[in-house]
Amino acid sequence: MAWRGILGFDYGIVQGPLGPDISGPDLVAAVANAGALGLLRAPDWESPDYLRELIRKTRTLTDKPFGVGLVLAFPHEENLKVILEEKVAVLQVYWGECSRELVTEVHSAGVKIVPQVGSVEAAKKAIEAGVDGIIVQGREAGGHVIGQESLIALVPRVVDLVGDIDIPVIAAGGIVDARGYVAALALGAQGICLGTRFVATKESNAHPTYKRKLLELDETEYTDVFGRARWPGAPHRVLVTPFFNDWRSLPPHENETNQPVIGHSKINGLEKEIRRFAGTVPNKSTTGDLESMAMYAGQGAGLIKEILPAAQVVRSLVEGAQLLIQNIK
Ligand SMILES: Cc1cc2nc3c(=O)[nH]c(=O)nc-3n(C[C@H](O)[C@H](O)[C@H](O)COP(=O)(O)O)c2cc1C
Repeated sequence: MAWRGILGFDYGIVQGPLGPDISGPDLVAAVANAGALGLLRAPDWESPDYLRELIRKTRTLTDKPFGVGLVLAFPHEENLKVILEEKVAVLQVYWGECSRELVTEVHSAGVKIVPQVGSVEAAKKAIEAGVDGIIVQGREAGGHVIGQESLIALVPRVVDLVGDIDIPVIAAGGIVDARGYVAALALGAQGICLGTRFVATKESNAHPTYKRKLLELDETEYTDVFGRARWPGAPHRVLVTPFFNDWRSLPPHENETNQPVIGHSKINGLEKEIRRFAGTVPNKSTTGDLESMAMYAGQGAGLIKEILPAAQVVRSLVEGAQLLIQNIK
């Protein structure tokens, strides 16, 4: 049964796109089958045939709607064309301008568009561009972080800005359980977007070592140590692993380009060398010195104690939130 659904989905729960190559068809279909919005992640390079395959593979695993996340900072025109041709339910965009032209193009294809923003200013531009929903990312978030403020301060400001316009505000950052969900609702959000909690699911493509570290380690840090050359000016939040602890003060002139190769990964169908300080997290295919690779995680990591099926994550968010709300006196 649906409860507090947004964007045509049963629930107001979004599984954030997890790059590179962590939210694949298995995870997205499991989330979709559970009534929430699952998002594939388009490759960081133009790979239209591969992306079409990903979308079609997901459709073999679910007949429910789902979406794709596109990072606008990377080449994406060909990938965008495929997303619109395949007419997925939702296009999520990040790190780049969600212009009125883009919104018009996406709407003409019958697809909804939802940017992830990190400031009131960016939310204002998104509303003016005519988007269908806004993901508001706080500094608590795992992965790359565009948000500079805490969710508790940022969400209500965006909610006030949206006012009576029919645009759901979706809170992202540090939320892993029903308590976070209810807190976001109290701030005026209609939905929540979770990344780290979905990395730690049975269906995510994350390497077992990365999943295990999410259970073992509690602390995270906002940093720019990883992937400086490939994606400059893009801070991120990672688990404080022993490797990160040793290198957290990496001098500003250092980056991954002249570092030793510490492993190999297949990312979106391509074999890649992983150099020390690269911004790629270990996925199922990764070999090498996994403990020295980036492990993105939000501030809620310390609350994750179990690898769960994605459907159970969705279910416990919904049931837990219903119970909490009933019990608020
Ligand atoms: C491993 C990982 C990869 C991510 N990759 C992307 C991405 O490619 N695009 C995007 O919009 N957000 C990405 N995010 C951020 C999420 O959209 C979301 O803002 C964040 O996960 C919310 O915080 P949480 O991790 O504490 O739940 C990523 C997050 C993680 C943990």
